[in-house]
Amino acid sequence: MSIQPQPDRVIIFDTTLRDGEQSPGATLNVEEKLIIAHQLAILGVDIIEAGFAAASPGDFAAIRTISEQVGGTGGPIICSLARSVKADIQAAAEALQPASHPRIHTMISTSEIHLKYQLKKSQSEVLAIAEEMVAYAKSFVDDVEFSPMDASRTDPEFLYQVLSQVITAGATTINIPDTVGYCTPKEMGILIQGIQDNVPNIDRVILSVHTQNDLGLATANALAAIEKGVRQVECTINGIGERAGNAALEEIVMALQVRKPYFNTYFGRSVDSDAPLTKIKTQEIYKTSCLVSQLTGMLIQPNKAIVGANAFAHESGIHQDGILKHRETYEIMDAATIGLPENRIILGKHSGRNAFRTRLHELGYDLNDADLNKAFTRFKEVADKKKEISDLDLEAIVRDETQIQVERSFQLEYVQVICGDSTCPTATITVVTPDGEILTDAAVGAGPVDAVYRAINRRVQIPNQLIEFSVQSVTEGIDALGTVTIRLRYEERIFSGQASDTDIVVAAAYAYINALNRLYRYLQSVVVVSNQLPTSKVQNFLSNFCFDCFL
Ligand code: KIV
Repeated sequence: MSIQPQPDRVIIFDTTLRDGEQSPGATLNVEEKLIIAHQLAILGVDIIEAGFAAASPGDFAAIRTISEQVGGTGGPIICSLARSVKADIQAAAEALQPASHPRIHTMISTSEIHLKYQLKKSQSEVLAIAEEMVAYAKSFVDDVEFSPMDASRTDPEFLYQVLSQVITAGATTINIPDTVGYCTPKEMGILIQGIQDNVPNIDRVILSVHTQNDLGLATANALAAIEKGVRQVECTINGIGERAGNAALEEIVMALQVRKPYFNTYFGRSVDSDAPLTKIKTQEIYKTSCLVSQLTGMLIQPNKAIVGANAFAHESGIHQDGILKHRETYEIMDAATIGLPENRIILGKHSGRNAFRTRLHELGYDLNDADLNKAFTRFKEVADKKKEISDLDLEAIVRDETQIQVERSFQLEYVQVICGDSTCPTATITVVTPDGEILTDAAVGAGPVDAVYRAINRRVQIPNQLIEFSVQSVTEGIDALGTVTIRLRYEERIFSGQASDTDIVVAAAYAYINALNRLYRYLQSVVVVSNQLPTSKVQNFLSNFCFDCFL
């Protein structure tokens, strides 16, 4: 893929796997990053920043695997971050080597405060390093992006000088980071206009912004920059990222789509031009959002724009009345445009395998026989407890039953809890170990979930600290499936797990086993690298992935 300077649209640079993964606790393993990268390619992002190659062997392996398996001909550009040091740039180049279109993204701080306290370097030293390292990156790849870190707090004259020189040195994209999320949209506009007016060779590159969300202005700042001629935005799915996160991809894309007539004028088009302003397949947004949330364990706040559970829910009577009479009275976009499934109730305990398979097919899931059998058995179990099975329930079932299982992992065979206001909560569990041993144990706890976790711990014996536990209902109603999401800490690492059931204590038990298996795999140091992970396995997971996570 090649991008012309000054394209007639916005280039979407997705940094979910790099800046997004810097969210506290959002650590992803190579396999999970690869799954997300495949989905980002399906979504239609132009560039995947797959990681920071020099940061860790895991990041290096993820970039290399994604370069091999997602970055082939016709695929997105694959990018690695690198500080402006030779070792980082070499690591990035090596990790990206299999990609058809590799990009090295090199950065160095330029603001006075960073130079004085962090880099302890003068402006002239930084200028020389930036220039030299861009040229060095260029010796490996044609496509070099440069970021002057903390650009929005950098002395504009110095910024112009750095940008002009790195362009001469070979940078093809100039990215302006609002690293600490300090800018307001008006200031962002002034900053970009200043660069357009004072950097003589700026028209030779694509201008980009990277906006952090510390003041909740990331999307607004990215859109303000677009109005001033920026043609690449860096963003993440669900807005995850360092501290308060980044601009959310789904917000920028849907703003450009819903307000196309407004933005068209900034692209020299007629107001009513129909041509899309990004290459994103918006129908894949919801699925991608759920996938990222599930694999990072980072829940989406219900009122999150575009992908939150309430984004298309209407509570007030006046609004409901308006929606029923004419949808556009209170809805500026149709839920179907982001791929949100309808919540149709169609199956019950008398529904057969054929109806089950057909509905899954209609929802976009073509399960192989083994997964279909598992999902159907589970569907029957749920249908015995819950009268009506909606599309959202079906998807939760598919998600649970098609999770990538660690080859040799702990399986929960049995869980039973006794609890009540005058009983000491007591749990009995049976687990099968990776070696096939069947172990039963019991424990008491402060509550039923605590008792279950203690009983499992007595047998699994992997030290960890439970740091987050949440339950969300899949649908409305007293018999709804509940999805439990948990996060465990082991030393500095976080591992998440998720499961759904009509009984939330049972869901909690399975979510715990899922998280423990991820931790177990980490402890076994089973780093799945490209040759051990057939693409078909990932594609199978994606085609079966259930995109209702948390409604
Ligand atoms: O926030 C920041 O400045 C960054 C850059 C590396 C783009 O993440």
